[in-house]
Amino acid sequence: MKIKTYKTKQEVALNFSRYLAILIAARDTVHIALSGGSTPKIVFDELAANFQEDIDWSGVHLYWGDERCVDPTDDDSNYKMTQEHLISKIDIPEKNIHRIKGENDPEREAKRYSGVLATNLPSVNGIPQFDMVILGMGDDGHTASIFPHEINLWYSNQYCEVAVHPDSGQRRVSITGQIINNADCVVFLVTGSNKAEKFDEIINQKGDYRNYPARLVKPTSGKLIWFIDKDAAEMG
Ligand code: 6PG
Repeated sequence: MKIKTYKTKQEVALNFSRYLAILIAARDTVHIALSGGSTPKIVFDELAANFQEDIDWSGVHLYWGDERCVDPTDDDSNYKMTQEHLISKIDIPEKNIHRIKGENDPEREAKRYSGVLATNLPSVNGIPQFDMVILGMGDDGHTASIFPHEINLWYSNQYCEVAVHPDSGQRRVSITGQIINNADCVVFLVTGSNKAEKFDEIINQKGDYRNYPARLVKPTSGKLIWFIDKDAAEMG
């Protein structure tokens, strides 16, 4: 595991974008699972604004690690955020965009998307393998859309499950632990002082860390890299 700490969210975005550009340049086809949330939004803006010449998106396939069960036009949609901040601003083939269809029946969509991963991704250890899974971490220690109150979903034998947000009750489709930990590379993008306590507990295996789904991210053979800012790194 590597922890890369930067002064600001912007520097996290810039340095992660550089890392991503190198990964994409090294492979003809790249399958990436995106995250929702505020930190990825800053990364997408950085990629769109400053990496147009550095990244050939023609071989990049975009998926989502989780999606809210809403229409793709809904402000809550991770796809909509990505469409606005990245997809609409880069030259990427439409066929390379593999969104979770939040408008569908959640249980049926979880099954459909599990099939998409099984069909599109190479199988490693008998499990679909992403080149990269990008994750955020909630200030409750959730990741993707696996929340502490449903941490059992992490261990599902399905590739995708339907999760429920603990406060809003909003349903979400999320990839599960076996997909995340089978990735060739997992990147956490975590910024903000509200993440510092959970980050500290997880990295130092203390407090209630056992309750946090984010602490279960341990790629079987792939890399795990945390791109964080100083606010998230500083406890107390
Ligand atoms: C989502 C994200 C979620 C996010 C965390 C952190 O759909 O909301 O996938 O897991 O990564 O909530 O979000 P921030 O980056 O906004 O703190």
